[in-house]
Amino acid sequence: MKRIGVLTSGGDAPGMNAAIRAVVRVAIYKKLKVSGIYRGYQGLIEGDIEDMEIASVGDIIHRGGTKLRTARSTEFMTAEGQDRAIEMLKVFNIDGLIVIGGDGTFTGASKLDEKGFPVIGIPGTIDNDMDYTDYTIGFDTAVNTVVNAIGNIRDTSSSHGRVNIIEVMGRHCGDLALYGGLAGGAESIIVPEFGYNLDEVARKLIVGKNRGKLHHIIVLAEGIGEPYKIAEEIETKTQMETRVTVIGHLQRGGAPTAQDRILASKLGEEAVNLLIKGKHGLAVGNKGERIIHVPLIEAITKEDKPPSRLYELASILAK
Ligand code: F6P
Repeated sequence: MKRIGVLTSGGDAPGMNAAIRAVVRVAIYKKLKVSGIYRGYQGLIEGDIEDMEIASVGDIIHRGGTKLRTARSTEFMTAEGQDRAIEMLKVFNIDGLIVIGGDGTFTGASKLDEKGFPVIGIPGTIDNDMDYTDYTIGFDTAVNTVVNAIGNIRDTSSSHGRVNIIEVMGRHCGDLALYGGLAGGAESIIVPEFGYNLDEVARKLIVGKNRGKLHHIIVLAEGIGEPYKIAEEIETKTQMETRVTVIGHLQRGGAPTAQDRILASKLGEEAVNLLIKGKHGLAVGNKGERIIHVPLIEAITKEDKPPSRLYELASILAK
């Protein structure tokens, strides 16, 4: 292993820059050369690649987004696209690849690895939708963004005595809604994994209002869909004025939290070390303080479910 490549792909996540920085600096420390691949797999196919030095990753640890930019490549989903990508890796003398992204990125990585090109995956997505790792890079920052949004909306909710529905990202996974809703003290958290009953939600809102409660926050996971339809139903059932806020891409940006920067640094180091040891086809992650790795295939096939105990606790605490 003389030269490694690094790319970010799929939705960006705060902390990706810290991961790129760790990969580049650990690799150089271990006497490897590093190529930065821009715009994910699409940039790889097109040869959008340049050498990276220690200074290339200066002043980025605290920045959201990804210095290497990102893309969702449809071309790379085809066998021809994957062959072209491998050809390009050979043209640029790259012996091993580190990809940073979510399950789509890992699916692509496993295809390259199956075709004989060594790849390691680092989980970078705000969704935290991977079961094999406790946390993905970007999740903690996004949870904090959700908590801040809930705080702001709680002010106006209290002033008007309204119901405020906040739709939170996470594709099919309810983690961001659950962790954000619990930390933000939402009255109800609705996630796809645990189902919901709007009569129960409405009853809780009315009981809270009768107790003199002024704010009424419902955190809704993106995977549920139709926030405006749910708002109408809530308004009909409770006779309380209801508003919807879709936080959307606000959750994808911002300075990464210390936790995301530290996780990114540790996972970046581990990914380089695995390639140096001749290991590949693996995804790195964490279980508590322990840094772990599992086959990429396992990382993408094992379904993630938010912890039911946390959901139960949130329901007990939100009154
Ligand atoms: O996977 C990250 C994510 O932000 C999801 O939570 C969301 O469903 C999706 O990406 C949005 O994708 P895009 O930025 O392409 O609209």
